[in-house]
Amino acid sequence: MDLRCLFKQIAPFAVKLTILATWVAGHAKPGCQSKCGNLSIPYPFGTGNGCNISSNFFITCNTTFNPPKAFLTTGNLEVLYISLDGYLRIQTGAAYDCYNSSGHSSYHSRRIRLAKFPISHTKNKFTAIGCDTYAYVQGSLGHNYSTGCLTFCYNTTDVINGSCSGIGCCQTVIPKGVRNYGVSLKSSYSHSYVLDFNPCSYGFVVEDGAYNFSVSHLADNSFSNKTFPIILDWTIGNQTCKEAKMHPLNYACKENSACTDAENGPGYLCKCLDGFQGNPYLLYGCRDINECDKLKPCSGTCHNTPGSYYCSCQEGFEGDGWKNGTGCRPKVVTQSQSFPVLVVALGIGVSLLSSLLFSSWVYLGLKQRKLTKLKQQNFQQNGGILLREQLSKREECGETAKIFTAEELKNATNNYHDSRIVGRGGQGTVYKGILSDGRSVAIKKSIIGDQSQVQQFINEVIVLSQINHRNVVKLLGCCLETQVPLLVYEYVRNGTLFHHLHNAAHASVISWEARLKIATEAAEALSYLHSAASPPIIHRDVKLTNILLDENYIAKVSDFGASRLVPSNKAQITTLVQGTLGYLDPEYFHTSQLTEKSDVYSFGVVLIELLTGLEAISFERPQHERNLSLYFVSVMKEERLLDIIDKRVLNDKSIEQLKEAANLARRCVRLKGEERPTMKEVASELEGLRTTQKHPWGIHDLPDEETEYLLHDSYGCGTSYDGSTSFSVGPDSMKNQVPFDIDGAR
Ligand SMILES: *[C@@H]1O[C@H](CO)[C@@H](O)[C@H](O)[C@H]1NC(C)=O
Ligand SMILES: *[C@@H]1O[C@H](CO)[C@@H](O)[C@H](O)[C@H]1NC(C)=O
Ligand SMILES: *[C@@H]1O[C@H](CO)[C@@H](O)[C@H](O)[C@H]1NC(C)=O
Ligand SMILES: *[C@@H]1O[C@H](CO)[C@@H](O)[C@H](O)[C@H]1NC(C)=O
Ligand SMILES: *[C@@H]1O[C@H](CO)[C@@H](O)[C@H](O)[C@H]1NC(C)=O
Ligand SMILES: *[C@@H]1O[C@H](CO)[C@@H](O)[C@H](O)[C@H]1NC(C)=O
Ligand SMILES: *[C@@H]1O[C@H](CO)[C@@H](O)[C@H](O)[C@H]1NC(C)=O
Ligand SMILES: *[C@@H]1O[C@H](CO)[C@@H](O)[C@H](O)[C@H]1NC(C)=O
Ligand SMILES: *[C@@H]1O[C@H](CO)[C@@H](O)[C@H](O)[C@H]1NC(C)=O
Ligand SMILES: *[C@@H]1O[C@H](CO)[C@@H](O)[C@H](O)[C@H]1NC(C)=O
Ligand SMILES: *[C@@H]1O[C@H](CO)[C@@H](O)[C@H](O)[C@H]1NC(C)=O
Repeated sequence: MDLRCLFKQIAPFAVKLTILATWVAGHAKPGCQSKCGNLSIPYPFGTGNGCNISSNFFITCNTTFNPPKAFLTTGNLEVLYISLDGYLRIQTGAAYDCYNSSGHSSYHSRRIRLAKFPISHTKNKFTAIGCDTYAYVQGSLGHNYSTGCLTFCYNTTDVINGSCSGIGCCQTVIPKGVRNYGVSLKSSYSHSYVLDFNPCSYGFVVEDGAYNFSVSHLADNSFSNKTFPIILDWTIGNQTCKEAKMHPLNYACKENSACTDAENGPGYLCKCLDGFQGNPYLLYGCRDINECDKLKPCSGTCHNTPGSYYCSCQEGFEGDGWKNGTGCRPKVVTQSQSFPVLVVALGIGVSLLSSLLFSSWVYLGLKQRKLTKLKQQNFQQNGGILLREQLSKREECGETAKIFTAEELKNATNNYHDSRIVGRGGQGTVYKGILSDGRSVAIKKSIIGDQSQVQQFINEVIVLSQINHRNVVKLLGCCLETQVPLLVYEYVRNGTLFHHLHNAAHASVISWEARLKIATEAAEALSYLHSAASPPIIHRDVKLTNILLDENYIAKVSDFGASRLVPSNKAQITTLVQGTLGYLDPEYFHTSQLTEKSDVYSFGVVLIELLTGLEAISFERPQHERNLSLYFVSVMKEERLLDIIDKRVLNDKSIEQLKEAANLARRCVRLKGEERPTMKEVASELEGLRTTQKHPWGIHDLPDEETEYLLHDSYGCGTSYDGSTSFSVGPDSMKNQVPFDIDGAR
């Protein structure tokens, strides 16, 4: 059970993403029929219970036809196409008025009544054909209106194909806001002068451009049976955007979309923001466009970000990376610029000399496993050299991150037996191992084949090898001998905080005091990463499943696969947005600017979960409660805090502490990063809260040790180290990671 943490969170998340992806694919509401015959039915339209946003958006799919036909609401207007740009195409027939030598032979007028959606005044034309014809379109717009056109001709030779200017064919526009109309026809001489080539008059509303007049139509009797497409404008509700936004529960525009007032009639429409595409009426319906794949705008490296993209050049190249710009060209090497390269080169030299064991191991590894040689080379190109340098420095300093042999780990895990798996996820699999000296360890086996995995692995080793804090999970060593990189951690026995808080089957409830202690410890670990570690580290994926509990219920922050080292001269860095739904800092999501405050936000969500006992995101909750942090803030605004606090920890003694912690959590999830407290402030406020009122621990007996910071100076062996070198592995290596985005749904 214990280390399932490392990956357990990924599994349900991935499932949710898959669901989202299928929702989006059909554009229909999840669980709803997305097609009727070959008509796609995007939400807000729908057929079936709960699939339409309101009754005007109901589609009747009549399967007695083959293929099935779709009708608007429960009426008889057949729907041909629905566009998310706010229009739909229906079809209807023409009015006709026919004569024979003895006078009138047949007459049929046409009426349409629409419940809500007006006829588009820009996309349709009222059209009449005939050579002795007055055509009227009449209707009600609150007041009665009537418009129309007339067309006369005496000889087909006068008629011009394709021209509806009054000879044989006429057209006129219809007014705005028309929801019902009738077409009627009149004739001056009962077609008596033109009977031999034009016995009938026809009148119809038709989509602009969908009808081409031709002389032959004047004599064509089949027109009375023809149908013509008409465009209707649809809108949501009868309010303006401004009014609608005041009722967020009913507001139809979802994430990454914007609202526009309708042009024809009341109501509004939603549209995905620039850089996004999809269905703005569905939850997570607007998906990021991967401009890098679509436009290929860069000659250098292209970075897709939510809603945008940018170009950059690889290490050692300069220029803007744009195809239309300067592109990338090799950097002119000056003395100062070559410095980091020199350091690396020196590092290799030093490590090769001083760490005979290590290099001979690499040598043997390469020799023994010719098949894996290519992978080894890749690995080295991707930072293996740097990693080796780091590790060998630690060795010099006397504190070795142990290099395990493949054989050793194979034995420890019983040849990676399935029964030893404690976690599985996108990055790889975690096994429980028992070393020959009896120690339990957790072994993380990355998935092979993907460069980004190797880079993530290096990243984690570099981050973890620099920190030694009692609330951070300890990296014991690694194994580079196998094709697949292996990381060996201390084994944290008591599983994840998520498991303890949210697993219904878990018998005991963690007391508020225990929760506060765990929160304080996690905050201290993050505060340490942000301010005491050098260079500072942003965790990027703070959440309940990444906080482990050991046998004494001491919190240990884990999973540094996504973490970033921050160059000391930069307060913020631009990155691909990465993180977990529900914990992701919205400011970071929108700007891609990563700062320490993003961790503060995620920590705020963790604190809210501890306070409420609710999950950060849950699709089982009603829509406005799905995102816990938003819900929590709205509840606090309404001063209903006690309604949302976990009833299991609410009592008279804890109430003041709970209130203060809630206020702190609320500050942590402020939308603007700069308004959030620093992790250091958070840690000290939590510590302050704890000391104001000390209770004996609730169910679990939690010893309260003095926290001890041990900053391990990994560069402390006399070599000065230019921090930027490590970032060639850090930031740029992240580009291939799966960004925060709907999996595979691009
Ligand atoms: C749908 O069916 C109609 C007639 O059966 C056809 O004209 C039209 O091209 C089809 N549309 C699509 C998208 O297949
Ligand atoms: C969808 O349309 C049906 C039929 O008009 C209606 O009964 C139902 O209430 C509508 N759904 C919603 C959510 O308004
Ligand atoms: C489907 O169409 C047939 C033929 O027009 C009609 O008899 C039937 O009532 C329709 N069914 C529905 C559910 O509207
Ligand atoms: C003209 O049409 C009417 C009505 O359909 C019919 O009764 C009459 O016989 C027709 N006359 C000729 C000459 O076809
Ligand atoms: C509109 O026309 C209908 C029938 O043609 C008539 O009953 C109604 O009174 C008219 N309304 C107005 C406002 O003139
Ligand atoms: C139409 O015009 C052509 C040539 O100008 C003439 O030959 C023909 O008789 C005319 N037809 C009628 C019905 O007037
Ligand atoms: C108009 O189109 C018809 C067929 O649609 C053709 O037979 C006729 O010759 C055309 N007339 C002119 C003047 O182009
Ligand atoms: C009408 O004619 C134009 C060119 O003259 C053509 O591009 C278009 O497809 C035609 N439309 C129909 C419905 O035939
Ligand atoms: C119109 O359709 C009906 C039946 O669908 C058919 O009996 C009639 O002959 C058609 N009329 C013309 C002018 O094609
Ligand atoms: C707007 O729509 C609501 C619900 O559909 C309805 O109750 C209300 O009367 C409408 N208001 C106007 C001004 O049409
Ligand atoms: C190249 O084109 C992109 C997008 O059109 C634009 O953002 C960028 O500024 C352009 N670069 C240059 C150097 O013109």
